[in-house]
Amino acid sequence: MEVAASAGGGGGAKSPDDVIAKHCNACHGTGLLGAPKIGDTAAWKERADHQGGLDGILAKAITGINAMPPKGTCADCSDDELKGAIQKMSGLK
Ligand code: HEC
Repeated sequence: MEVAASAGGGGGAKSPDDVIAKHCNACHGTGLLGAPKIGDTAAWKERADHQGGLDGILAKAITGINAMPPKGTCADCSDDELKGAIQKMSGLK
């Protein structure tokens, strides 16, 4: 997977840091509403283990799950951009 180094540039792929800062951190930074916390790899792994791995939880992130909104509010994020953000937050490969 390609990870773009540029943050916030118009048109190009969004960097994981950018997506997280703008969209995911609001809940995943603090564990709001029961969201797995950034850097808490065990909590993310537990979820991934029950849902077929990283692609399983990516699928839930795209459709939304309970209090988790579809695409984590990043409506214009591609699947790859969401996946990059999830990898960065979870530490999973
Ligand atoms: C409004 C708060 C909120 C925002 C914003 C948010 N999340 Fe979540 N997220 C949650 C909550 C709450 C859960 C736990 C849902 C549950 O299992 O009940 C969750 C769970 C997840 C999961 C695990 C899904 C699973 O199958 O267990 C992934 C992956 C995820 N979020 C990715 C993201 C990404 C990527 C972003 C940013 C693009 C994001 N989230 C933004 C609240 C949020």
